[in-house]
Amino acid sequence: ERDDWNPSLKLYLAAPRGFCAGVDRAIKIVEMAIEKWGAPVYVRHEIVHNRYVVDGLREKGAVFVETLDEAPDDRPVIFSAHGVPKSVPAAARAREMVYVDATCPLVSKVHIEAERHHENGLQIVMIGHSGHPETEGTMGQLPEGEVILVEETADVERIAVRDPDRLAFVTQTTLSVDDTVDIVAALKARFPGIVGPHKEDICYATTNRQEAVKAIAPHVEALLVVGAPNSSNSKRLVEVGRKAGCSYAQLVQRADDIDWRALDGIRSVGVTAGASAPDILIEEVVNAFHDRYSVTVETVETARETVEFKVPRVLRVPA
Ligand code: F3S
Repeated sequence: ERDDWNPSLKLYLAAPRGFCAGVDRAIKIVEMAIEKWGAPVYVRHEIVHNRYVVDGLREKGAVFVETLDEAPDDRPVIFSAHGVPKSVPAAARAREMVYVDATCPLVSKVHIEAERHHENGLQIVMIGHSGHPETEGTMGQLPEGEVILVEETADVERIAVRDPDRLAFVTQTTLSVDDTVDIVAALKARFPGIVGPHKEDICYATTNRQEAVKAIAPHVEALLVVGAPNSSNSKRLVEVGRKAGCSYAQLVQRADDIDWRALDGIRSVGVTAGASAPDILIEEVVNAFHDRYSVTVETVETARETVEFKVPRVLRVPA
């Protein structure tokens, strides 16, 4: 039904967008752990980088802490989807705690890769963002000094390695696909013997969301990415949108964050969401446009996702 009082607007919905299989699994793990063991269940770090998700789980009985020290010995603790340094489960075992690791299986895969290279005597270069929990988790699989962090192409020239012929690289799963290609090229140029994964470790969800943004960016005057400011893959979607030609690309946590004045006069908007943003927040943003415009929605689908991850066995058997 058309509302003649409202200006018309074309809204392009990127697909895939929002939750990935690793986030879905991590949230399920917390919910099932509360069901199994009762509240409180402790969670080390935000289970996924989204305030809405975290607040919802807190209401159900999750207690979020930043370090394991803040959790008591006698309550179950869950490690977030981003992964943890080896020292964390080791400390939990030493304290005889019950713990469930919600690390995304695609992050665990990178951990195993790093360990394998290390066992083969290679030093590792990790392409990632300093301070992000995934980077800390992956670097923390190996002893100090065994993993060197590279954040951008310029870092490649600066790093000092033990032996240029005995090197491997791994990456964070949520990087910009295009920037990473450049960094890998720089690594290979300086260290021709460096070994790495066939494709980077960037996961299917990150890759697909970036592709979908590239497909809609040329059609829209503004792009909104539903996601949190500490969500790596969401921030990358904003950058990808800008690089693909959309000069106004913004991260919004929910509809309240939309700067309507900045959108004044526009006729086409793209909407996507990071891997940790729940559907309900995407709907909220879309509905906010319906409230102000006569909206035509077009979904632009560049990939179909069927990936699903099982929760750990301990949660599939009764207490
Ligand atoms: Fe896993 Fe990729 Fe999501 S690493 S948590 S599937 S963004």
